[in-house]
Amino acid sequence: MFKNGWRKPSVVMASYLDRIGAGSVLADPEVMDFDWTPPELVGREMVQRELASKFATLSHPEGAGRAVITGPVGSGKTVLADTFCRDIQRHLSGKRNVRSVKVNCRNASTSMRVVQRILHLLDPGHPDRGLSMGELLLSLRRLLRREASHLIVVLDEVDHMLRRSGDDLLYQLLRIDEDQEGKGTMSLILISQEQVLDVLETAVISRMGATNHLRIKPYTVDGLEAIALQRAQLGLVTGTWTPEIIRLIAEKAGPSGDARKAIELLNAAVERCEFRQDGHNESHLIIEDIHEPTNAAIVTTGSNLEVIDDLPPHAMLVLLAMCRRLTNQESMTTGDVEQLYAVVSEEYEVKMKSHTTVWKYLKEFETRQLTVSRVATIGGGRGRTTHLSMPHFLPKDLGSRLEMMLKKHFR
Ligand SMILES: Nc1ncnc2c1ncn2[C@@H]1O[C@H](COP(=O)(O)OP(=O)(O)OP(=O)(O)O)[C@@H](O)[C@H]1O
Ligand SMILES: [Mg+2]
Repeated sequence: MFKNGWRKPSVVMASYLDRIGAGSVLADPEVMDFDWTPPELVGREMVQRELASKFATLSHPEGAGRAVITGPVGSGKTVLADTFCRDIQRHLSGKRNVRSVKVNCRNASTSMRVVQRILHLLDPGHPDRGLSMGELLLSLRRLLRREASHLIVVLDEVDHMLRRSGDDLLYQLLRIDEDQEGKGTMSLILISQEQVLDVLETAVISRMGATNHLRIKPYTVDGLEAIALQRAQLGLVTGTWTPEIIRLIAEKAGPSGDARKAIELLNAAVERCEFRQDGHNESHLIIEDIHEPTNAAIVTTGSNLEVIDDLPPHAMLVLLAMCRRLTNQESMTTGDVEQLYAVVSEEYEVKMKSHTTVWKYLKEFETRQLTVSRVATIGGGRGRTTHLSMPHFLPKDLGSRLEMMLKKHFR
C-alpha cells in the first residue's frame, strides 16, 4: 500500500484475477457446456428404447434403421441421437463395425455442403472441391465399402437443408446400396424442431415411415430437476448445493420445458455464487443466486413485480408472509403459510381471513405464476403435503414491494 491508498498496479491486477481458476463452487466447467455429452441421459428411458427399437436389425450384417426425431427446443433431441450413436457403437463392437457422423444443417444448409461435411468427417483428407454431387456420393459409397462399415448419418436441424435444397439427398442416401452387392450400408436419423415442421418435412416423415417418427415432449419440472441434478453432481463441488435449490431452479425453468434453460440457470447461479465469494459469504448456492439481481429502483418504480398490485390487501398479507419465509428457504408448506400469516396479521393489526379464503389466495398466486405448488405424499402415500415455492421472483424484492403497497392500505 502506498500513500493515499494507492496500490501497486500489479497487486491490484493479481487480486482481481484471483477468481480465475479459483472454482470454489464449480469443479468441472465442461459439465455446464451445452455441447458436453453426459455419460447417460436421465429420465428418457422410454424414448431411448423406442429409438433403439428402430435399429433392432443393426446387429445383422445387412441391417439398417431410420428415425425422425422431432420435438420442441431443448427437449434433448440432439443429445438423444448423440448418446445413441455413442452407445450403439460400443454395444456392437466386435459384432459390426459401426460409425456415425452428425451434420448440423444450420451450418451446412445445402445438400452439397451436407455431403461434403459427411465425407470430410469420415476422411478429413478427402478432396471435395470441384466434385459434383454424383461424384461425392460415389466417393462416399467407395469409402464405406472399403472400410466395410455401417454408417449412421445424423442430420440435425434438417429443416434448414430441406428448405434450401429439398429432400433429394435423403433419397439418394437411402438408396446408396442400389448399385452394389451389399445391403444395409447406411442408417439415417433426421432431427427437427417440431414447431418449424412444414409440408415438406411432413412429406419426408411419411417417406421415412410414420412408425419411425419419434415425437419428444417438452420436459416436465421433474425431468428438468433430474437434468440439473445430474449436472450438479458431476460438475459442482460437494457441499455447495442442495437438492432443494436444484428443485427451485427446475421450477424456474419449468414453463419453458427446455433442458438448456435449466442448465443455464444452474450455471448462472454458480457464477453469481462464485462472484460473491470473499471468504466471509455463504459458499453454497442460495436463493438469491438463482435470480437476476434486481435493481433496487425497480422494486419501487415498477417491473414485473407489478403483478401483485391489484391483489386484495389480505392476499398481500398472505403473500408477504410467504416472501419472508421463502427468502431463506426454498419451499414451505401450506401449514407454514397459515402460521406466518397469523404473525403478519398481528403485525398489521388486522383480523385474519378464513382458511378457505387463504386457500383461494394460494390458488390465485399459482394462477399468476407468483408461486408454484407441488404435492408430495408422505408416509406410504397416506398423508399429502403441499409445498409452495417462488421460483420466478426473488422473494425479498417481492416482499419489499408488498410492504410498500400495504402501507397504503393499512397504515
Ligand atoms: N435427458 C437428458 N439428460 C441429460 N442431459 C440432457 C437431457 N436432455 C437434454 N440434456 C441436455 O440439455 C441440453 C439441451 O439438449 P439438446 O441440445 O439435445 O436439445 P435439442 O432438443 O436438440 O434442442 P434444439 O431444438 O435447440 O436443437 C444439452 O446440453 C443436453 O446435453
Ligand atoms: Mg438440437
